Amino acid sequence: MQWQQQTCLLTGATGGIGQAIAKALANKGVSLILQGRSESRLQELSNSLSGEHKILVADISTLQGREKTCLVAELNAISMLINNAGVGQFSLLEDTEETVIVDTLETNLLAPILLTQELLPLLQKAGLQQPAPSYLVNVGSTFGSIGFAGQSIYCASKFGLRGFTEALYRELADTNVHVSYFAPRATATSINSDQAMAMNKALGNNVDSPESVANALIQQLETGHARQFVGFPEKLFVKINGAFPHIVDKALFKKLPIIKRFLRREKDVEQTAQEALS
Ligand SMILES: NC(=O)c1ccc[n+]([C@@H]2O[C@H](COP(=O)([O-])OP(=O)(O)OC[C@H]3O[C@@H](n4cnc5c(N)ncnc54)[C@H](OP(=O)(O)O)[C@@H]3O)[C@@H](O)[C@H]2O)c1
Repeated sequence: MQWQQQTCLLTGATGGIGQAIAKALANKGVSLILQGRSESRLQELSNSLSGEHKILVADISTLQGREKTCLVAELNAISMLINNAGVGQFSLLEDTEETVIVDTLETNLLAPILLTQELLPLLQKAGLQQPAPSYLVNVGSTFGSIGFAGQSIYCASKFGLRGFTEALYRELADTNVHVSYFAPRATATSINSDQAMAMNKALGNNVDSPESVANALIQQLETGHARQFVGFPEKLFVKINGAFPHIVDKALFKKLPIIKRFLRREKDVEQTAQEALS
């Protein structure tokens, strides 16, 4: 892996996992375009990294934000695209606002697809020019392989992203663009609400640090694996769910009362916050 020759557009760079990935890549000598929606947080991140990097303020769920993102990526001739930006959802479908459904699918699924389509010619060109391939990484989730109660829309977005990535991996197998899917399990970042984190604790779910997740991504890029599921036993559950979903159904049915307890609390917290605002 010739890290120092890479110029990488990292979406969601200001998030928990994004910051850790940015740091790990900067330490390897990669030039970064750090994308997010908050200029001050992007600047602060950039200042904290070794090397010279650019910041890009854009909302990728909008056409204008994606156009700006692609323009900056083209001007800087990126050779690596990491679609990492994402939003979470922790609610029963019946309690989920339409705006949340649309925003989750736009940010987690539609935006990575459209950015990839627009930037693919650039990645193909970069892959031809340098001796090493160019890289596309889509950040999915364990919940891109296992449907989980209270996260139906998030699961839909990540299942979609996994399917998109796998198809593209096979479509581009005869090119110099290396496509990979990276799926963390629960990680300690602000994408998870307090109630979601409390549920993870009650269920005994493992929670990784963003730094260990970033290290796993670096490892995946170095080994060239097309798919990486972070953490054991989650990577085993992914396989079992694929082959024998009824086994995972039964295990998760048993956990449903606990999951619903935290979903009810989340709803109460949101209602209280809304009442305070009105
Ligand atoms: N944490 C976990 O438990 C976990 C587990 C599996 C997979 N993942 C995946 O890992 C990725 C990173 O998540 P994280 O845990 O680091 O979450 P996070 O801390 O909440 O960060 C999310 C990042 O995405 C950016 N973002 C969100 N909506 C955006 C938009 N419309 N336009 C541009 N940027 C936007 C945020 O930017 P702003 O600063 O502007 O908000 C932020 O930089 C996501 O794809 C997530 O689904 C996370």
